[in-house]
Amino acid sequence: MADSAKLIVLYHSSYGHTETLAYAIAHGVRAVEGAQATVKRVPELMPEKVMRAAGMKVEQPAPIADPQELAEYDGIIIGTPTRFGNMSAQLRHFFDQTGPLWVAGSLIGKVGSVFTSTSTGGGNETTIVSVHWTMFHHGMVVVGLPYSAPDLADISEVKGGSPYGAGTITAPDGSRSPSQKELNLASFQGHHVAKIAKRLAGGDGADEQPTP
Ligand SMILES: Cc1cc2nc3c(=O)[nH]c(=O)nc-3n(C[C@H](O)[C@H](O)[C@H](O)COP(=O)(O)O)c2cc1C
Repeated sequence: MADSAKLIVLYHSSYGHTETLAYAIAHGVRAVEGAQATVKRVPELMPEKVMRAAGMKVEQPAPIADPQELAEYDGIIIGTPTRFGNMSAQLRHFFDQTGPLWVAGSLIGKVGSVFTSTSTGGGNETTIVSVHWTMFHHGMVVVGLPYSAPDLADISEVKGGSPYGAGTITAPDGSRSPSQKELNLASFQGHHVAKIAKRLAGGDGADEQPTP
């Protein structure tokens, strides 16, 4: 096991819900000794005028990530709002620039995990899985959110989050903010992923075909 691990919490967020979860995830990562969390976001594609007209959160403090920098991390935790049950175009566009990393096998053996935000919960898990597909193509070790998280089996209130990954439900008008239980689950996921990333850090992810 390595003494340290570098993780990136990389997200896209139009209204700030996924952004809030990203910081809860980073909090969980940082609670693991030797684990570092960098919070970044993918570049926006929507014109600022359109964003402002839709009441979107134009200013977000997280720096913009470069697709090629993913190779620098031991763990990559991705957050995206649901778009018709799928990842957002902004995130898709970011991933579509990671071809050089795929060619070089740079992400093979790195830990990947995903969280999301939906307005009604419709598409919560398919959105997370839509990111898993890309992670599998990169040869990543995909990690979810285990039921050892105390709030996961709690059904006392409406909430996002499932064994696929943390989530929040915003309500159709976006008026609901992430609840304490949703934030707990996000933080648990960050902690869980960081522990696994630390175990795998420093290893050579790329395997060779054994001689028959
Ligand atoms: C084009 C579009 C498609 C969406 N599709 C869904 C959907 O399939 N299911 C759902 O519950 N919410 C859907 N939403 C709502 C977003 O998921 C919601 O605004 C988002 O979770 C808010 O997260 P954010 O604050 O991080 O942007 C959609 C929103 C847009 C703009």
